Amino acid sequence: MTPVAPADGPPHTSTSFHEMWADLKPIGRDPDSGGYRRYAWTRADQDCRAWFKAQAESRGLTYELDRNGNQWAWQGDPLAGDAVVTGSHLDSVPLGGAFDGPLGVVSSFAALDELRHREVEFAKPLAITNFGDEEGARFGLACVGSRLAAGQLTAAKAHELRDADGVSLPRAMEAAGYDPSAIGPDPERLARIGAFVELHVEQGRALDVTGDPVGIASAIWPHGRWRFDFHGEANHAGTTRLDDRRDPMLTYAETVVAARREARLAGALATFAKVSVEPNGVNAIPSLVRGWLDSRAADQDTLDRVIAGIEQAARENAARSGIDLRITRESFTPVVEFEHALRDELAKLLREEHGDIPVLGTGAGHDAGILSASVPTAMLFVRNPTGISHSPAEYAAEDDCVAGVIALADVLEGLACT
Ligand code: GLV
Ligand code: MN
Ligand code: MN
Repeated sequence: MTPVAPADGPPHTSTSFHEMWADLKPIGRDPDSGGYRRYAWTRADQDCRAWFKAQAESRGLTYELDRNGNQWAWQGDPLAGDAVVTGSHLDSVPLGGAFDGPLGVVSSFAALDELRHREVEFAKPLAITNFGDEEGARFGLACVGSRLAAGQLTAAKAHELRDADGVSLPRAMEAAGYDPSAIGPDPERLARIGAFVELHVEQGRALDVTGDPVGIASAIWPHGRWRFDFHGEANHAGTTRLDDRRDPMLTYAETVVAARREARLAGALATFAKVSVEPNGVNAIPSLVRGWLDSRAADQDTLDRVIAGIEQAARENAARSGIDLRITRESFTPVVEFEHALRDELAKLLREEHGDIPVLGTGAGHDAGILSASVPTAMLFVRNPTGISHSPAEYAAEDDCVAGVIALADVLEGLACT
């Protein structure tokens, strides 16, 4: 999105949104594709974090970095309790879009500006957050910051996380100037939160179909990541008879096809999108192919069935080709049904100005989903006319972004103000 002169929304809101958007836009952006590489604890991530801190300070908010590397900007007393919190994440998938995450953080600051413009009186503390490492692009596990805070990832497990170069999460945090010694559950901090609302670009076309700029989340599908290690035998590509090969690439390819078949049969989703090959030479049969499966379904039984089907196909194919197969579940997030009371409250708060807002489910994971086990949580979605996400082509129209800010401000006003 290019910053432009204020359009339809209230001018100050539009301007504050666009100024922030323009500031954030160059950070971690690949000039060729326009996609983003904002991986946890890298230079780009630190620049995003510096941007967040500057936004907090320029508004006179109390800035905090928690023990898990999540950022907080408080209006009111951080310790008072029953706080209304909003925010999202600033990191990205490899060559991700500009909106997934940043739209929620920028909209949170813009919504606060809108509320100040309205001269509302706050009855509760309000905080804006940037949760660290939501996408898991670097260490393989999504929502590390919120999982740690919510006790869904232990410090010991977090210490085992490694990036593709073998750098551990604590070492990466240290290299970025952060102290990893205290990472772990943060129940006292979560106990201060009365409600968490995350605004996010929609990652689908439901709102485009209904013709609405903003929606409310109902649920997040259960989803997980599995690593498949196919061990074969390295050998010469030009001299090894086909019948003599133990080629893990072949079994990997058969597994990719099986994943598509199982997902289609079940009405679910299964994707192999990340792969590493050893030794990765054009004329050497690989010794190891490692593929990561991402799979999601509307309910747990369906997901279990899909995974069981893919595993069975992989094991049968591996046995036939002399491949040693190891399957590791790297992460799993059960179904999240957002709290009905808060969801209904959002619908009520928005009805007068915005009419009846569509309520939609999603297959995408979010920090809000992780937090929902600990605090009342809700989400707002902003229309994405193409539905494309996790791609440089991800997009939301300016007017819809401003409509999202206004909706978020209305919700925060209803929840936090007298
Ligand atoms: C995060 O965006 C995910 O759903 O993988
Ligand atoms: Mn994402
Ligand atoms: Mn996201």
